[in-house]
Formats: sequence, C-alpha cells, structure tokens
Amino acid sequence: MNLQNKKANIALVGATGLVGVEFLKLLEERDFPFNMLYLFSSQKSAGLKLKVKGKIYTVREFDKNLFQNIDIAFFATSAEESKKYISLIKDFKTVSIDNSSAFRLKRDIPLIVPEINFENVKKTTKLIANPNCSTIQLVLVLKSLLQFGQIDSINVSTYQAISGAGRDALSTFFEQAKGKNKKGSPIFYNNLIQHIGSFKGEWCEEENKIINETRKILNKKDLKISATTVRVPVVNSHTEVVNVEFKNNVSLAKIKSVINKTPYLILLPETDPISVSGTNLVFVSRLRKDKFRDNVIHFIVTADNLRIGAALNGIKIAERIVYEK
Ligand SMILES: NC(=O)c1ccc[n+]([C@@H]2O[C@H](COP(=O)([O-])OP(=O)(O)OC[C@H]3O[C@@H](n4cnc5c(N)ncnc54)[C@H](OP(=O)(O)O)[C@@H]3O)[C@@H](O)[C@H]2O)c1
Repeated sequence: MNLQNKKANIALVGATGLVGVEFLKLLEERDFPFNMLYLFSSQKSAGLKLKVKGKIYTVREFDKNLFQNIDIAFFATSAEESKKYISLIKDFKTVSIDNSSAFRLKRDIPLIVPEINFENVKKTTKLIANPNCSTIQLVLVLKSLLQFGQIDSINVSTYQAISGAGRDALSTFFEQAKGKNKKGSPIFYNNLIQHIGSFKGEWCEEENKIINETRKILNKKDLKISATTVRVPVVNSHTEVVNVEFKNNVSLAKIKSVINKTPYLILLPETDPISVSGTNLVFVSRLRKDKFRDNVIHFIVTADNLRIGAALNGIKIAERIVYEK
C-alpha cells in the first residue's frame, strides 16, 4: 500500500454503533496512524459530532465519492449494508475490512484473525472479512492448542452478552431492566435465550457461524466441531465452555506454559473474579483434564466481544497492512 508518511486515509461506516464506538476508542488507544478520517452512519445519526484524537469529526450519511482517496475502510454495519456499500466502492483503491457476516464464507475472501492467518492477505486483496465475535476468541485459544497434537473434536457452549446483538438490543435490555417492555421485543432481561439467530434445521445461525468460520480460519475443512449458542443477560463480554478432544494424550502443564507465554492469552487462577470488558486479552480459566480421558481437556474462554471479537481484530488487520504491506 502506497501511503503518505506511513499514515492511511481511513473511513468507518457504522461509527455510531457498539462496534463502531469501540473502533474509535481503539484508533486513539493504539495511536493508529491516519491522515484523513471519515465517519458514516445512517440518516438517524448523521450530523453527530464525535471527537477522535482531539479533533472533532462530523458523522455523515454514506457518500461513495468520499472514498476516492480512502486507503482502508472499516465496516461496522449489517450484512445488507456492508454488501451494498462495499460493492459501490469496489473500483477504488480502498481495502475494506468488514465486520458483518456478508463475505466471511466466500471462498475468495480471506477471513482473518491476524495472529493466525494474516498470510492470506495479499498485496492485491481489496476485501477482508472479520470473523464472528464468538469465533475469534475460540480460535485464538485453539491455535495454541494445535501444537500439542491433532484435534479430534471440539464442543463449545457459549454464554453470549447482549452487546453482541447490537445497540438496539442493549437499549431494550436496559429498558427491560427498568421494568419497561416494548411489545414484540425478545425478553433479554433476566432470561436466557436458547438460540442466537434463526434456525437452519436444528442448528441456529450463530452455531453455524462458529463451526464454519473456525474450519475456514484454521484451514481444517473437516474439523469435527459442534456449538450450542445461548444469549445471557450480561451487558458485555462473551464466555464459552470448551471441550477439546485430541487424538493423543496431552500434558496440561505444557498447555498451561504455552498459554502463559502467548501475549494475547491470560490464564486465570481458579478463584479470581475479574473484569474482562474493556480489555484486549483473551482469558482462559478452569483449564483441566477430563476426569476419565487423558486426551480431553475442558476450559472456559472469555473476551470482550466488541474488542477481541470485532473492533480490535479489525484494527490489528489494518495495522499489519499499514506497517507491513
Ligand atoms: N456487537 C458485537 O459484539 C459484534 C461482534 C462482531 C461482529 N459484529 C457485527 O458488526 C456489525 C455492527 O454491529 P454493532 O453491534 O455495532 O451494531 P449496532 O450497534 O446496531 O450499530 C449499527 C451501526 O450501523 C449504522 N447503520 C445502520 N444503518 C445504516 C445505513 N443504512 N447506512 C450506514 N450506516 C448504517 C448505525 O448508524 P445509526 O447510528 O445511524 O443507526 C450504527 O452506526 C454487524 O454486522 C454485527 O453483526 C458485531
């Protein structure tokens, strides 16, 4: 990428949503190198003024013409909007990093977790898909486990926060907490919802995302992985209970040692309650061997879904593009 002073001109579409806001915080926190910044939303939030790195930016409705000089565009919009807007800018030089599910399983579109498979981004790549939030925190741990042998099967059960469903769901949750319930809204407060997204046969959308995206990212198309996804009344950060069955016996001590040495993973002591939201790390806890089988381990993985599961992954991809390509 040919950049002026190693700084990119960037755009963020969906700047006012939960993931968008996290992107803006991370641009500041990580001192992401940019010259121009354009922020976009729907008509509803257009005109809003947001401060980024001390400068005020006005949020606008999408305008294709403003993308002529944009090097990197982050999309934190729904799959429909991402598809529509990305097709409109396909002839520009812009590299799009999309958080929606629109392109994740397309064969020619790289689905990237930079710590795992950044090599799939080529100099000519114009569109990169960011995986689903619950997939990213899972594969970041699985990547470390793969060095201990071949994985025979994985079973994951998720406990997913309300923020994973976006800003409107979160405000419905807060309204319900105050005793107000809009007719027709799902009951988020004080409830567990036993599926996430619509069903395709017996499996719901979120389960299929975890299964298919994990296989694509780890480049293991026959990986035996099952998922059960549940929405829990927690504001932010997803938790997953994971069982991994290896084809061989494994050493828990060696696994712990590798997790401890991996910069983005934190192995928690058994009893410490901690606050995960707002952090840029993946927390592994309750790591233990199966009671009866020496080739099976169980653990819990928790991470901030808006950061690890969305905005941070997107920013890390962009950083690699700016600094390496
Ligand atoms: N939430 C998560 O944990 C998470 C994790 C991974 C991936 N994702 C994916 O990331 C995307 C964004 O999720 P989110 O949770 O941030 O959603 P959200 O809170 O509902 O935010 C949606 C954003 O899209 C904007 N928008 C809506 N219609 C638009 C239009 N026609 N043109 C331009 N912008 C429009 C909204 O702007 P207004 O303010 O004008 O409404 C808002 O900025 C989704 O595809 C989601 O599946 C989310």
